[in-house]
Amino acid sequence: MSFTTYYTASSLDGFIADAKHSLEWLLSRKNDSSGPMGYDGFIAEIGAIVMGANTYQWLLDHDPEAWPYEVPAWVVTHREFETRPGRDIRFTSAPIPDIHRQMADAAGDRKLWVVGGGGLAAAFAEHGLLDEIIVSFAPVTLGSGAPIFPARQELRPVEVALNGELTCARYEVVK
Ligand SMILES: NC(=O)c1ccc[n+]([C@@H]2O[C@H](COP(=O)([O-])OP(=O)(O)OC[C@H]3O[C@@H](n4cnc5c(N)ncnc54)[C@H](OP(=O)(O)O)[C@@H]3O)[C@@H](O)[C@H]2O)c1
Repeated sequence: MSFTTYYTASSLDGFIADAKHSLEWLLSRKNDSSGPMGYDGFIAEIGAIVMGANTYQWLLDHDPEAWPYEVPAWVVTHREFETRPGRDIRFTSAPIPDIHRQMADAAGDRKLWVVGGGGLAAAFAEHGLLDEIIVSFAPVTLGSGAPIFPARQELRPVEVALNGELTCARYEVVK
């Protein structure tokens, strides 16, 4: 079974985007992508990714031409998005276990990344298909926004690190 991680960044009060879907509160933070628990080491182990429609829309809105991922991607949605030539992006409303199976086949020995949002990560956990949550906490509270994980889930803390302004924590999902 492919190891599946929800790697995200959050405000201290548990929001991964503010009420206007902005990430300005996060993107301005000092951190080292090659430092402790940073993005570079993380992405090197990833073989397939999955995200929800709002996360995909955010990427489109911020740079319609850019696509920062080299591995196959699944976008879970009921909306009609345009296909993008040269990008391996699969739009789907299939059941989560089917998506997970397709991702595992594509990823081989590498890990699967649930990019977000929180509801999608919780749906993977509900099916027993989430192994780990890694959160980089920014030093700010937002008061409202998109929740990091809108479900109850027991976790086991396994690693913490300070990376610039971000406090990073790795948790194993207790199944
Ligand atoms: N801080 C970070 O590191 C980070 C990381 C990722 C995302 N974000 C941001 O956080 C926000 C996340 O938005 P969000 O919480 O609304 O989550 P989202 O998962 O990006 O979008 C929710 C939509 O995705 C589809 N979807 C998600 N789970 C589904 C499921 N199990 N089955 C069927 N469809 C599903 C549905 O789209 P349809 O309406 O098409 O059915 C749903 O309305 C975005 O603004 C994003 O940019 C931040």
